[in-house]
Amino acid sequence: MKILFDTDPGIDDAMALLMLARDPRAELVGITTVFGNAPIATTTANALALCEHFGIDAPVSRGAAQALALPPRGFPEDIHGRDGLGNVGLPAARVRGVEALPAPEFISALARRHSGELTLVAVGPLTNLALALQFDPGLPQHVKQVVVMGGAFGLRGHGGNVTPVAEANIFNDPHAADRVFTTAWPVTLVGLDVTHEVLMHTGYLDALGRDGGNEGRFIRDITHCYEAFYNARTGGGIFSHDASAVACALDPSAFTLRRGAVRVVTEGLALGQTIQSPLGLKFGSTDWHGHPAQSVCVDVDAPRLLAEFSALFVR
Ligand code: BDR
Ligand code: CA
Repeated sequence: MKILFDTDPGIDDAMALLMLARDPRAELVGITTVFGNAPIATTTANALALCEHFGIDAPVSRGAAQALALPPRGFPEDIHGRDGLGNVGLPAARVRGVEALPAPEFISALARRHSGELTLVAVGPLTNLALALQFDPGLPQHVKQVVVMGGAFGLRGHGGNVTPVAEANIFNDPHAADRVFTTAWPVTLVGLDVTHEVLMHTGYLDALGRDGGNEGRFIRDITHCYEAFYNARTGGGIFSHDASAVACALDPSAFTLRRGAVRVVTEGLALGQTIQSPLGLKFGSTDWHGHPAQSVCVDVDAPRLLAEFSALFVR
């Protein structure tokens, strides 16, 4: 599967990138960076450093520094560290640099080069994808599918993670997300309803660090910082957000999907909330009416995902 990875590395982004590099089903044809877990200069430097350090040869294109229509906010140093990668001191890339084309044009060029074959896996704010749609209105015809880590639908007791109703990637650029979800291309949302079910507990991470080679050791090192933040919620361990989106892109059979148009709240108290109008429920004329049905993950086989992730590194 040809994949373009749109990312804001980010600790769980780095885990998802290593997964893409390791999984034989994935052919990583490009990486685009976006602000989110850290400023754009940092997330781009991190993408380049990760590629150089782990021998990932996909081209990296720099993307958006801020949201389409919101003022800049701060960055979550308490979750991802000052450097976005858990303050482990990953050396900066010495050889690798970014592509000449900025992310929106790069996405368009890759989609047209691999017309009908390219899966966009987006695990940060959706600004680059929205700008790519603006740059190239014909883009949807060339993209096979879009898989997004983002959203929270209040299922199974899981709300938002930055407000009671909003998930971070969507909250960081709600206007972009609404644009992406209301576009006529197939979108699958892997939100907190399922990623909060995929818990990598401390023992799992320790085993990965011990038995998972260089990548496993690196994952264990960077997740200490992430774990310190999440421990209060998880009782020891982290949620696997971005790697769950990669897993869903590669094989959705571990997920239960619900179809229906998805809109994003773009102002007020519920800014960044994602709301689906499930197919089959009749409401008359609403703000969901006339928009394409997308797929929302409502359940996941978490033990299967966890086993498949560690099997990539533990040989
Ligand atoms: C999402 O927000 C970011 O902090 C993570 O990398 C993930 O993509 C989880 O809400
Ligand atoms: Ca991310």
